Amino acid sequence: MDGIAELRAKYLAEIGAAAGADALEGVRLAALGKKGEISLMMRELGRMSPEERQQAGPALNGLKDEIDAALRARKAALDDAALDERLKAEWLDVTLPARPRPRGTIHPVSQVTEEMAAIFADMGFAVAEGPQIETDWYNFDALNIAPEHPARQEHDTFFMHRADGDNRPPHVLRTHTSPVQIRALQDQGAPIRVIAPGRVYRMDMDLTHTPMFHQIEGLAIDRDITMANLKWVLEEFFSAYFGQRVKTRFRASHFPFTEPSAEVDIQCSWVGGQLKVGEGNGWMEVLGSGMVHPNVLRAGGIDPDEWQGFAFGMGIDRMAMLKYGIPDLRAFFESDLRWLRHYGFGALEAPSLHAG
Ligand code: PHE
Repeated sequence: MDGIAELRAKYLAEIGAAAGADALEGVRLAALGKKGEISLMMRELGRMSPEERQQAGPALNGLKDEIDAALRARKAALDDAALDERLKAEWLDVTLPARPRPRGTIHPVSQVTEEMAAIFADMGFAVAEGPQIETDWYNFDALNIAPEHPARQEHDTFFMHRADGDNRPPHVLRTHTSPVQIRALQDQGAPIRVIAPGRVYRMDMDLTHTPMFHQIEGLAIDRDITMANLKWVLEEFFSAYFGQRVKTRFRASHFPFTEPSAEVDIQCSWVGGQLKVGEGNGWMEVLGSGMVHPNVLRAGGIDPDEWQGFAFGMGIDRMAMLKYGIPDLRAFFESDLRWLRHYGFGALEAPSLHAG
């Protein structure tokens, strides 16, 4: 049997040399485990004479406690070292500026649509939606547009392809947001106050036209709504939208789905090639409108002897150009990042009635 002093020296050295938790556990088992060297020696005590035991007992117990304490201290030291390592590796300098990340912008059409929805919501209009691929019934017939009306001709309207022998009624890319009038009336009945912003399509492409553009439809039906309500709503809208009083001019016009019909101009000036809304004595046409035709109310399932109201349709893209001084419509849809960064809006520039 090794002497106590040798055991002590041996295990203290091994503990000191243990480089990790596993090695240390190995040393513990070798010394103090069930079959450890010191444990076995302690079991021998039973077989000793009382005199021998009196000698060896306290010495072995002392050794056991000392090795135990050394194991514990080494474990704590190893844990500390491991933590130090981790803290060094995971250290984070929160005072460093953040890494730049590419950020997108809100497209002016999205921004303006939100602005418009906020203003009309304040006047009690809810947002309604309809599909961009419409049946020709919703896009034309229900809106009192006769079969021979020029708007139906191929040169204006995109018709969906039909396979030979497919006899379903024709579908079109909606040419305006007016079919949402019918859908909203069918869904909600009267009274109703809705706006319907969205994409529309016409076969048209030049400086001021793109085959896809955006409109916002307005519809207000109740028992006693008149053109006067239409005028007030639109003037309120333009003033809120442009942030200043804007004069309007109603010109008699014709749409199959309204009677009477009016095109609406807003006051503007051209100074040094710069268009300014709300001043001067020029006029700029911005929308079509009128009192909803009885046939349209009927198509929407509403009794025209009981209900009446107005509708309007306005170009969103044009309104964005006017408010934010954007010169070229076609650039809206070219996805040029330089354009988007220049004219786009930040995510936090949320439209509100009180924003400048
Ligand atoms: N739908 C018409 C257009 O696209 C606009 C309009 C809407 C006119 C509602 C009157 C009433 O030109």
